[in-house]
Amino acid sequence: MKKLCPSILSADFGKLAEELKAVESAGADVIHCDIMDGHFVPNITFGPDVVAKVNSITELPLDVHLMINSPEKYIKSFRDAGADYISVHIENNYHINRLVSQIKDTGAKAGVVINPATPVKALEYVLEYADFVLVMSVNPGFGGQKFVSNSLKKVRELKDIINKNNYNCIIEIDGGIGPANIKEVSDAGVDMFVAGASVFKAKDIAGAVKELKKLIS
Ligand code: DX5
Ligand code: ZN
Repeated sequence: MKKLCPSILSADFGKLAEELKAVESAGADVIHCDIMDGHFVPNITFGPDVVAKVNSITELPLDVHLMINSPEKYIKSFRDAGADYISVHIENNYHINRLVSQIKDTGAKAGVVINPATPVKALEYVLEYADFVLVMSVNPGFGGQKFVSNSLKKVRELKDIINKNNYNCIIEIDGGIGPANIKEVSDAGVDMFVAGASVFKAKDIAGAVKELKKLIS
């Protein structure tokens, strides 16, 4: 089943519990948590304590996207906070294979993230170990940006490699996803869809979740 993963980066943190309940009752599958440290990306968000709070509010699984330097230092804390999926970028991590193992050893699903200008080829020797690849379809750091259009080509290329090699790895996409492009992205082979602004900035949050879910079902 394809999964819709609203990103709380665009939520109103003053009403976080209310908004989490709204997306959950409307049929969201996973909650995406964006962790930024002001070094790897030019923005700062929140850490394990907030993730633990989110985990206490929602029954949904948590997908923690680490946009931080030295992620190996924090994987355990995020897992302890309730992360079910943890992803790390390939760009700042020389020891990506070791990181994937570290995530899997905690019991979480391990994801490798590639930025818009990182080629699929960079994943060649890690793909067979990853549970999922997160294809960034915007440059990481902020919500509400425009979808980088060649991300579709990238997804197709990646899907083809996964199929040809029979890898047990799914594709997630993150950035600029909304009702205008989610169907096309789904048809290209994506299984998990992060949606920030198109859900939490919508007038009707529950309605937005339902519409996006319908488009990928
Ligand atoms: C950006 C984050 C995204 C962000 C997506 O760095 O990784 O998860 O929340 O937001 P939208 O869906 O608004 O592009
Ligand atoms: Zn993200």
